[in-house]
Amino acid sequence: MEVVGSLFLLTLSTLLLPDINLIHAGAYSVSVTFKNNCPYTIWPGTLSGGGTPQLSSTGFELASKASNSIDVPSTWSGRFWGRTKCSNDTNGKFICGSGDCASGQISCNGAGGIPPVSLVEFTLSGFGGNDFYDVSLVDGFNVPVSITPQKGSKGCNITSCPNDVNKVCPQDLALKGSDGSVIGCKSACLALNQPQYCCTGAFNAPDKCPPTNYSKIFKDQCPQAYSYAFDDKTSTFTCSSGGNYLVTFCP
Ligand SMILES: *[C@@H]1O[C@H](CO)[C@@H](O)[C@H](O)[C@H]1NC(C)=O
Ligand SMILES: *[C@@H]1O[C@H](CO)[C@@H](O)[C@H](O)[C@H]1NC(C)=O
Ligand SMILES: *[C@@H]1O[C@H](CO)[C@@H](O)[C@H](O)[C@H]1NC(C)=O
Repeated sequence: MEVVGSLFLLTLSTLLLPDINLIHAGAYSVSVTFKNNCPYTIWPGTLSGGGTPQLSSTGFELASKASNSIDVPSTWSGRFWGRTKCSNDTNGKFICGSGDCASGQISCNGAGGIPPVSLVEFTLSGFGGNDFYDVSLVDGFNVPVSITPQKGSKGCNITSCPNDVNKVCPQDLALKGSDGSVIGCKSACLALNQPQYCCTGAFNAPDKCPPTNYSKIFKDQCPQAYSYAFDDKTSTFTCSSGGNYLVTFCP
């Protein structure tokens, strides 16, 4: 009886092993390091997608030249962005010139960055899968940013928006700081809210929503980043899961 019992157990555990591995695969975490190469302080924000739990940090200060790492579940989807020109107002509320999440605190606590903001988007699939990542300027731009996979395997390419779109931003898209300088560049959809820029209404399909004179300004500066809703798919990058990532502001 005992022999039969252990044989049964052995068979059972062999059958279950792949599932057990999959369950355990979710337990490791991915380290995302944020590096600030800008000559000014950045306050990164984090937002988990699809109603999933927020990360251990949803916002922090990153001085010029500083770096900081946070752990992200190996199966995760969400976004990161940089906030600029932040300060505490007279009521002690934390507020930023660009990318503000309106939480009144350094932590965003589940709130996203108010556009225009350069977005770093991730979908991590966990053991055996593929990670997907991109830089999106669909909601506009505020700070140059890059994503560097640290796994070093084939296909794990850097994607970057290396140029300062604020410097070439047309007046009608510009977000200005208190000193009058351009600190963000809205997408045409955000600034002008017209169907041809938002790919809505009669323009609600990839073949009906070509690049516009406005989206081309973003694409010229940052060819690897999404410049509008139906931008070509070459802006999504792929890397086999399991590696860490570096997010660099002002790469
Ligand atoms: C705002 O106030 C908090 C809490 O006192 C402090 O930690 C932070 O450094 C201040 N931030 C700025 C930008 O002054
Ligand atoms: C990744 O970079 C390599 C080397 O520059 C290039 O040959 C390859 O096409 C790139 N892959 C993707 C998916 O962009
Ligand atoms: C883009 O095209 C629209 C419509 O022709 C025009 O009104 C606008 O001034 C142009 N903007 C830029 C930045 O070229």
